[in-house]
Amino acid sequence: MAREYFTHKGVLFPCLDYSPEKLSYVENEFQVRDDDIFNIAYLKSGTNWMLEILSLIRCDGDPGWVRSVLNWERAPWVESQLGLEAALKYPPPRLLCSHLPVQLFPKSLQRSKAKIIYTLRCPKDVLVSLYHFSKLLLLFKDPGSLDSFLEDFLSGNVPYGSWFDHVTGWMGLKGNENFFSITYEELQQDPWGSVRRICHFLGKELSEEQVAAVVENASFQSMKGNKMSNYSQQRDEFMDHQNGEFLRKGICGDWRNHLSEAQSQRFDTVYRERMSLGCTQAARGQ
Ligand code: PPS
Repeated sequence: MAREYFTHKGVLFPCLDYSPEKLSYVENEFQVRDDDIFNIAYLKSGTNWMLEILSLIRCDGDPGWVRSVLNWERAPWVESQLGLEAALKYPPPRLLCSHLPVQLFPKSLQRSKAKIIYTLRCPKDVLVSLYHFSKLLLLFKDPGSLDSFLEDFLSGNVPYGSWFDHVTGWMGLKGNENFFSITYEELQQDPWGSVRRICHFLGKELSEEQVAAVVENASFQSMKGNKMSNYSQQRDEFMDHQNGEFLRKGICGDWRNHLSEAQSQRFDTVYRERMSLGCTQAARGQ
């Protein structure tokens, strides 16, 4: 089962901890509540950073919760089997995560006032981060060479499918009052302003000291040193802890250290083909 995939509605998922039945349940029967907050992103786009920020905002910047409860219990991933069990038991108001593309997301979202926070990241950095993570996470196939993984990524032959479809699908909700999008790059460049904007979207105003506490306790270094957030507690069945760390580098532009000129140009060619002109700066890797 480990490192095997199945295809559900044209999208790849790991066999370990996912099933077509549960994915269908999530899409068709899972009931989104008006007071749910969903943290959504394509893989390796900053989902866990946002999870930490949202956890801390919920506690007015107090780090007690993030230091005592595992991140995947604070905000379960609805689409995995274990995450779904936790989501169904979660007392409202729920904080939930998902990497699902919009077409597989619970249909009941359309009738709800749940809030969606969607995080995007430069896709070349996503590619590099996912390449390293695929060696570490035992749910994913070994990525092989960077050249072959680049082609898998560009064609959507990776878990959760195409980055291009994910981003264009979710960004179709832009303009909806319950939808907020932000980039990993904005979080890096202006963490205080970003946290203030997220608070505003959530209708929760924090003091300057509380915003500073959110930023500090959700920093890369704080998360790396927090065993509730750094995945050191993840079961050995899921993660090869000898093969790297979840909190790998946490920087913008690391793709420049990994992609050759030819690989970068190949990426740009497909990017231009797949994305409309209105793409974000972050998505262009700038
Ligand atoms: S996952 O496994 O798909 O849910 O991964 P995700 O959380 O979306 O993204 C993981 C990358 O985000 C980096 N990260 C951070 N960067 C800066 N600051 C903070 N606090 C932070 N937390 C996580 C993490 O290191 C992964 O990026 P890379 O480039 O691999 O370091």
